[in-house]
Amino acid sequence: MIRSHIIGSGSALPAKCVSNAELAERVDTTDEWIVERTGIRQRFIAGEGETTGSLATEAARKALDDAGVDAQDIGLIVLATATPDQTFPATATTVQHALGCNGGVAFDVQAVCSGFLYAMATADAMLRTGMARRALVIGAETFSRILDWEDRTTCVLFGDGAGAIVLEARDGDGTDGAGILATRLHADGAYSELLYVDGGPSTTGEVGKLRMKGREVFRHAVVNLAEVLGEVLDDAGIVASEIDWIVPHQANLRILDATARKLGLPAERMVVTVGDHANTSAASVPLAFDVARKDGRIKAGDLVMFEAMGGGFTWGASLARM
Ligand code: UT7
Repeated sequence: MIRSHIIGSGSALPAKCVSNAELAERVDTTDEWIVERTGIRQRFIAGEGETTGSLATEAARKALDDAGVDAQDIGLIVLATATPDQTFPATATTVQHALGCNGGVAFDVQAVCSGFLYAMATADAMLRTGMARRALVIGAETFSRILDWEDRTTCVLFGDGAGAIVLEARDGDGTDGAGILATRLHADGAYSELLYVDGGPSTTGEVGKLRMKGREVFRHAVVNLAEVLGEVLDDAGIVASEIDWIVPHQANLRILDATARKLGLPAERMVVTVGDHANTSAASVPLAFDVARKDGRIKAGDLVMFEAMGGGFTWGASLARM
């Protein structure tokens, strides 16, 4: 049985960190409101020369180092982003060239905040069907460049960053139980107007700005995440109490708390980085995963649940044994 094993991770953040207090000097908001409603204390904002591609490349290099894998051994790069460097070519090809592993497969996946789950599922399926042996799966974003900095209901919520993992196809009898065990993805385009960007190459010809009806997204997120987590647990034949760590999309601390409550798990089993990074869209899950691996929380043998929900709507969850 071939399974995709997570053998390394890395992450990257822009140099500039912006606190809530600094934002409050630009828009009508307060540190108290942002912390109380979201848990966010600060975010990193890309400066000149920092792009989705450069952050993705840095995260990918660190993931390769961590895995002890040479870039030449990467046959597949799947990069999740809603903020590519250019409309085309795919930012994944920029990363591939920067790493020097030209010639394999490289493409972007666009599922906004669920992008990393979609990218990981795609890479997992391709590895299990033998299309490559080792893959880089990256989530990278520069949402600061599509924010309306006059709109306090959205601009305080997001940040920039990148996270990456290395997946390796391993053939075995499955007795160690390691690798990606179960994944479920969903989308429902009926809700596209609750979270979208008001521009694009085929409509306005402009990049556009992010628009969100936050309260309604919040309500759907809690329900959809509980459902998809239940599906993945059923598919894997395990109960919630067996999960060692949940690595969630980092949109709002209140959504994370509600999800933990619904699963009947203590809040301590959630990896929470929203306070430090804010919402980095497709980057948030691999960024949080890398933080918790590097600080020693997530260890070999642990059962880790990844989950995310975002624009589209799109949502999904994936369970892996380290
Ligand atoms: O990553 C993709 C998925 N995205 C999400 O999951 C986001 C989900 N939504 C949320 O996280 C929350 O809904 C928000 C953080 C966006 C908003 O929190 P909320 O508790 O739902 O607030 P609200 O939108 O109901 O607004 C409450 C009040 C409003 O004032 P009134 O109408 O009650 O007078 C807003 O105008 O807070 C006001 N407000 C602000 N006040 C100070 C909205 N933004 C701000 C702000 N500073 N930045």
